[in-house]
Amino acid sequence: MAERAPIDPQLAAAAPGGVLVVDFGAQYSQLIARRIRECRVFSALVPHDVTPDEVAAIHPRGLVLSGGPASVYADGAPKLNPALLELGVPVLGICYGMQSMAQALGGEVARTDTAEFGKTDLEVVSRNGLLGDLAAETCWMSHRDAVVGAPEGFEISARTTAAPVAAMENAESKMYGVQFHPEVVHTPFGTDLLKNFLFDVCDCAPTWTAANLIDDEVARIRAQVGDESVICGLSGGVDSAVAALLVHRAIGDKLTCVFVDHGMLRQNEAEQVVAAFGQHFKVPLVHVEAQDHFIGKLEGVEDPERKRKIIGEEFIRIFERESGKLNDARFLVQGTLYSDVIESGSRDAAKIKSHHNVGGLPEDMSVELVEPLRQLFKDEVRAVGEELGLPERMVWRQPFPGPGLAIRIVGDITAERLAILRQADFVLQEEIRRAGLYRDLWQSFAVLPAVRSVGVQGDERTYAYPIVIRAVTSDDAMTADWARLPYDLLERISSRIINEVDGVNRVTLDITSKPPGTIEWE
Ligand code: XMP
Repeated sequence: MAERAPIDPQLAAAAPGGVLVVDFGAQYSQLIARRIRECRVFSALVPHDVTPDEVAAIHPRGLVLSGGPASVYADGAPKLNPALLELGVPVLGICYGMQSMAQALGGEVARTDTAEFGKTDLEVVSRNGLLGDLAAETCWMSHRDAVVGAPEGFEISARTTAAPVAAMENAESKMYGVQFHPEVVHTPFGTDLLKNFLFDVCDCAPTWTAANLIDDEVARIRAQVGDESVICGLSGGVDSAVAALLVHRAIGDKLTCVFVDHGMLRQNEAEQVVAAFGQHFKVPLVHVEAQDHFIGKLEGVEDPERKRKIIGEEFIRIFERESGKLNDARFLVQGTLYSDVIESGSRDAAKIKSHHNVGGLPEDMSVELVEPLRQLFKDEVRAVGEELGLPERMVWRQPFPGPGLAIRIVGDITAERLAILRQADFVLQEEIRRAGLYRDLWQSFAVLPAVRSVGVQGDERTYAYPIVIRAVTSDDAMTADWARLPYDLLERISSRIINEVDGVNRVTLDITSKPPGTIEWE
C-alpha cells in the first residue's frame, strides 16, 4: 500500500478549537466538515489511519468518524484504530463510523434483512443526549449493515424499522453514534444534532469567522516569512486575489504581485484587476503586457492540448523572469484551496485535460510556498474576500480557466477571432448579470467554433461565424448541467450579439451536460 502523506502541519495551528473528521472514505466526508464549519467551528479531514499521537498533537475538541463505502466485514475495510476512542476526546460516529465504533467496543454489527436508503422514519426512544428536544422524525439513511447490539454502557436513543440501533450514546465517555446522516439536508434536524455535539458535548466556541480567520492567517504568514520578500502571481480570479490581500495585510510592501496579461483575457479584465489592486489596495504590482508575445506563439496552433502547453510554458518563463528581478524573493504565494488539498490526497483521476493553473508554481523554482487558503473552501474564500473589501465583481467572479479565451476559440487563434469572441462574451456577461443570474450559474460564457454558415442581413448574404452560448450549473465542476436560461434572455443575447458583433451571423445554445461534455470546449 502506498504510504500516506503526513498530516498537514498547518492543521495543528488551525485546529485546536475544532473537530476532526476521521475519513473512512464516504462521499459525504467533506460535507461533514463543511456543515461543522457552517456552525462556525473549524473542521478538517484526517485519514482513517491517523495515529493517536497525530490526533493528540492537533488538540481537537472532538472527533467525528465518517461513513464509508464498505461493510465493516468486507476484505480491506478501513479499520478504526480503537486507541482513538481512548484519547478522552468526544466522538461522534456516523453510519460506518458508528458501526466501527460499536464493533471496537464490543457491540454487534450485522446485516439486517432490509437495507435502508433515503428518507426513513425515525423513532426516538431517549431524549437524554444528542437528540434532546429536536424534531427528529425523519432522517436520511444509506446502509445495509446495522448495529444490532449496542456496546456495554451505551443507551439506545433511536431506532428505525431496519436499524434497531439508529442512534446510541454513552454520555459518561462522551461517545455518540448515529446510523443516519446528519450532514445531508434530507435529515432536517441534522445540523441541530451536530450543534448539540459541537457546543454541548465538545464545548466548542463558534469562532470560525472570516474576521478571526484573517487575524489567524495574518499572524501565521508573518511567522512563516519574517522579513523576506514574497511574490504572488495574480490571475484575476478570486483565489489568487484573496491570497494576495491576506499576505499584503501581513507583510505590506514586502509582497509584490505579478500579473501576466497573456492576451487571452476578457474585455476590460486586465484593467479591472490592475485598478482594483493599485487603487483600492495599493499592492505593489508588476503588470506584464505579453499579449503580442502569446498571440505570436499561438499562431497556427489548432490542437487544444498544444495551446494549453504553450500558454503554460510561456507563462512560467515570463513569471520566472519577472520574479528574478524582485530581489530574490524566497517565498511564493499560491491560492491552493482545501478542496485541492483533499483531492490531491485521493487517487489520480483519469487525465482529461492538462489544466494549467495560471499563477501556479514552476516546478524547478527554489522558493517556499505560502498558502493562506489551504484550509478554506471556496465559499469561505469569498467570505474572506468580502471581509477584506475585495470588490463584489472579483469576489463573485465565475471560474475562468488559466489559458483563458484560447480554449474557447476552436481552431486558429487570430487577433480578429479573439476580438469577435471577446465582444460576444461581453454582451453575454452583461445580459446574464442584468437578468440577475450571474451568481446562480457556475459559469456562463461564449465559444467561437471553427465553422461558418450562411445568413442574410439587410438583404445581403453573409458567410460568418456562429457564437455558442455555454452556461452551466455545478457544485464543483466535476459534473455540470446545462442551465435552463429563460427564452427571452436567450433572445436578447442572440439579437444583441448578431447586431453588435461584426463577423457573427448566428447564435446557438450548448445543451450538453458534463459528462458527456466538458464545461470548456477544449
Ligand atoms: P472542464 O472543461 O474540464 O473544466 O469541464 C472544469 C473546470 O475547470 C476549469 N478549467 C481550468 N482552470 N486552468 C484552470 O485554472 C485550466 O487550464 C482549466 N481548464 C478548465 C473550467 O473553466 C471549469 O471550471
